[in-house]
Amino acid sequence: MTIKLRKLSYALGAEVLEVDVAKPMSEQQFGEIYRAFLDSNILLFRNQRVTREQHIEFSRRFGELDRHEALPRDRRKDHPELLMVTNEPKPDGSPSDTKYTGRQWHSDMSFTTAPSLGSLLRCYECPEVGGDTLFANMYLAYETLSDGMKELIADLHGIHLSGTRKLANDNSGVARAEEQKRINPPVAQPVVRVHPETGRKALYIGEKVKSFEGMTEEESKPLIDYLVAHATRAEFVYRHQWRKDDILAWDNRCTLHQALGDFDETQLRHMERTTVLGTPSGYVVAG
Ligand code: SIN
Repeated sequence: MTIKLRKLSYALGAEVLEVDVAKPMSEQQFGEIYRAFLDSNILLFRNQRVTREQHIEFSRRFGELDRHEALPRDRRKDHPELLMVTNEPKPDGSPSDTKYTGRQWHSDMSFTTAPSLGSLLRCYECPEVGGDTLFANMYLAYETLSDGMKELIADLHGIHLSGTRKLANDNSGVARAEEQKRINPPVAQPVVRVHPETGRKALYIGEKVKSFEGMTEEESKPLIDYLVAHATRAEFVYRHQWRKDDILAWDNRCTLHQALGDFDETQLRHMERTTVLGTPSGYVVAG
């Protein structure tokens, strides 16, 4: 069987048509899906009314799953392989710890020495309009730099920090950010990363990077700002408008993404994500 694909944007992304991810899938069929994942960097599966177990099981086809030890407050207690991204208040009425998850340009788990291969986000509820997610193609971002800039950044390492997200307006947000910094010390990652499966070079930067190793924040900021602005230019970006029961799979090794707050926050936005473990990358540096 040959899978049917529909391009999502010029820069990246494809929708996989007529596939039910909960149904048994041969090695050959999954091989085609994985090939499309490497080629398109993002795959969309619409109308997937799957159980949590089925979401986890399909994600395992991509590789071993993270149990989110680095983000203990954000995972589901009953399924540690699932990370919540929800604005649903806690039972005591206080804001959700994950209300602002993903609001910066980032690649999942870049602040650890086991950054993710890819993530599969399932939409349970989305607002009537907005709550979109942007994705940027980091191969294109790298390939369109000048030779001079490629040379300048070739050996740089960006220091990726955890706990940099916007905080919910209460004390638990501050405690959470402190805890994040304690659990996840800063990690230096190469700014130019070679994708382990395609062999292509991709830019590896984002808004969790505040400095380059061996440089001050003040010295680093103009170049970080330039690279992030360049990488996220409209022509390198796909904007996903969510529908209930979408599953979106993305390759964290060659994309950045950012969740937008462009919606009425009284409406529910509830997502759950599996995170596929990647190959080791980077090293811990003094905070
Ligand atoms: C994430 O960064 O994994 C969450 C993205 C989103 O909620 O759209």
